[in-house]
Amino acid sequence: MRLAAVADIHFRLEEREVNIQQFLPVNELADVLVIAGDLTNHGTVDEMRACLTVLEHIRVPIVVVLGNHDHESGHQDELAGMARLAGLHLLDGSCFEMDGVGFAGVKGFCGGFAPYELMPFGEGGIKNFVEIAEREAIKLDYGLAQLHTPVKIAVTHYAPIKETVIGEPEPVFPFLGSSRLERALDRHKPTLALHGHAHRGSFSAKAQSGVTVYNVALPILRKRQEPHPFTLFVV
Ligand SMILES: [Fe+2]
Ligand SMILES: [Fe+2]
Repeated sequence: MRLAAVADIHFRLEEREVNIQQFLPVNELADVLVIAGDLTNHGTVDEMRACLTVLEHIRVPIVVVLGNHDHESGHQDELAGMARLAGLHLLDGSCFEMDGVGFAGVKGFCGGFAPYELMPFGEGGIKNFVEIAEREAIKLDYGLAQLHTPVKIAVTHYAPIKETVIGEPEPVFPFLGSSRLERALDRHKPTLALHGHAHRGSFSAKAQSGVTVYNVALPILRKRQEPHPFTLFVV
């Protein structure tokens, strides 16, 4: 299967025509398109509507997870509903299978990377924060556990490992991902893992579990001088 992947498009209404032209080659080059979060800039309904008017030109199945920007206006449930109504396979602890390839996805959350990840200790606010990260990791674990396909793809917005956020300022590493997501990869050993969010991170790295993780944030693909606003895998 030919898989096109990107994250962090941050669709803008004024770039709609350009985006349509740039994404049209997906129809010829790929069998599925994965968008790993941050479809919009501020998570507004208008932005999602603009995004969907671009994606309606894509004829292959589209698998997405939301990103933190898609939550910015507090309309994430409405945005998710719009995406699902438009036929996108929006994953939030759920999965999608086609032709022997299974996708499990979740937004994920931050909290940092082992051995320095934030622990649920002390104030209630800290415990609540860590609980969100743990809940997201459980959802990814659950989604991957549901897959019985020979090829499994994990999709998150936040990074599951530190290595693919390298390139960002080190003080912000804890806000870019969580090792709790990596533990789900470790348990289920997907064929590959895709994420975004770390716009200035690194394109790929191997997790300790042996799973190769790819940061497909659009600014990274641009820096790699990819010919399209997506990168291609064969799985
Ligand atoms: Fe982003
Ligand atoms: Fe993000």
